[in-house]
Amino acid sequence: MSLENILNKKLQTVFNNLGLDSKFAFVKVSDRPDLSDFQCNGALALAKAERKNPREIAANIASELEKDNDFSKISVDGPGFLNLTLSDDFIANSMDVAADDERFGVEKTSHPRRIVMDFGGPNVAKALHVGHLRSAVIGESIRRIEVFAGHDVISDVHFGDWGTQMGMILGEIILQDGNLAKTTSYNIDEISNFYKQANARCKEDEKAKEEARRITAELQSGHEEYYNAWQHLRKVSLEAIKKNYEVLDAHFDLWLGESDAHKASEEVVKLAKEQGASEVDAGATIIRLADDSKPPVILVKSDGGFGYQVTDIATIKMRYEDLKAQEILYVVDKRQSLHFEQVFEVVEKLGLAPNVKFKHIGFGTVNGADGKPFKTRDGGVMNLEDLITMSLDKVKESLPETADGYTAEDIEKMAKQIAIGAIKFQDLKNNTASGYIFELEDFAKFEGKTGPYIQYAIARINSILRKSKMNGGNIRITNKEERDLALKIDQLGAVINRAEAEKEPSVIAEYTYSLAQVFSSFYNASPIMNETNVEKAASRIRLAKLVRDILRLNLYLMGIEAPEAMLKK
Ligand code: ARG
Repeated sequence: MSLENILNKKLQTVFNNLGLDSKFAFVKVSDRPDLSDFQCNGALALAKAERKNPREIAANIASELEKDNDFSKISVDGPGFLNLTLSDDFIANSMDVAADDERFGVEKTSHPRRIVMDFGGPNVAKALHVGHLRSAVIGESIRRIEVFAGHDVISDVHFGDWGTQMGMILGEIILQDGNLAKTTSYNIDEISNFYKQANARCKEDEKAKEEARRITAELQSGHEEYYNAWQHLRKVSLEAIKKNYEVLDAHFDLWLGESDAHKASEEVVKLAKEQGASEVDAGATIIRLADDSKPPVILVKSDGGFGYQVTDIATIKMRYEDLKAQEILYVVDKRQSLHFEQVFEVVEKLGLAPNVKFKHIGFGTVNGADGKPFKTRDGGVMNLEDLITMSLDKVKESLPETADGYTAEDIEKMAKQIAIGAIKFQDLKNNTASGYIFELEDFAKFEGKTGPYIQYAIARINSILRKSKMNGGNIRITNKEERDLALKIDQLGAVINRAEAEKEPSVIAEYTYSLAQVFSSFYNASPIMNETNVEKAASRIRLAKLVRDILRLNLYLMGIEAPEAMLKK
């Protein structure tokens, strides 16, 4: 249990003993670290509620707390702030408890939920690009955070395999080959090329677009030849995409696609009709929303095909009925927020998933230095593979080409871990909803707020632990830096809770960076190797190990690997 939680318990007891409303009995990390470690503002809130003097209430609480040796100083300041300073022994004990626990004292939720997470969202025949990166990186991080918090998470990639792009590709192949006979011989690059050409054609040629829609609608209603060709396109794309996600270390429990919601989409349309919720408008079946400034939701398009919206609605029905989802999270570009508002409203209106909580975690775009979506040097779309190559090149600027005791493969593996870590950390350190400018020059540096800096901090502690050859002993607080470090460590649980509640990995990134910095100050002030007092040295070893393990956990929660050792040019 964190110090904060223990203090809350202590305050609750005192409040109860004094007959005060214990809903105000909680502390927070002090706003005035010069005065205290924690503060409680409960007396102010109570005084307001009961029209009493806040300083008097605070003084009563203080005199009860003074009987407790875990505090070294208690003061009432200003209008009635209660400032609490903890004894060094109390802090040290709490560190020992955290160090003994594989979760570092962070408790699991007492209300586990079944959460379905929808992220990734790749499409057939389209190479993953920078936009998909954010969904995979943020999605995977939130997935790990939810699992760590104790929730029961099912992740689903929601493959885009049933939309108009399918008719476009099939149409393009027919146009170029005369028929679909050769389709099953095409590999991913050829398929992507057909898609690119189809895309260009349909932008200019209304007829080609029309044809693509027709083919899509026929494919959806079971046209055998289209369906067989489609199966190949889907299979080859999925294999390519799986490799991409493997490199990114994003985990999906389910590899379902939009096509898997076809039957459920028919059921949704039928249900909406029966409930009198839908109407036919210009040949399309639609549902109007309560707020008529929002565009209506299209269930069936005028050509008879199912679109993006009904697919998502039907998928929710399946996630509720088959997966027993209690909460569904979507990690999707924030420009799709209207889509999700529409979808959630229709689901509610049709009663498809009662009591399920929905959340669209919308992320902003990755931009280049010019503030426009990030492109390759020659102005093309930045594919995931280009991005990783670019990051690898950058990382290699900081790594030696050879080193004693390392094979070329060892160094290559290290470079990859650092390169992916650099990309992910840069993405996750930014608030999810805001976009960011890709820091071409700095993102892979070994100093500053970067992934490699954290990885380096871990490797450095590993090296300290290896060299010291000593076992850790009980933790003792003997100087200010040890104390600051311990109080920082103590915030771990609150940080993870906040990241979970707000679905915001940047909270963890921020904390991780600051923990690494505080560790650095600690290490500068508190020698380990040269410390002659054996107990002090052993305590510091244990603290260092604890920090190393927490940094590793935090990187894990961001989907980043920590190399055991790190070389530097
Ligand atoms: N495939 C979609 C796209 O590329 C993203 C899918 C997001 N997930 C969802 N359930 N709609 O825009």
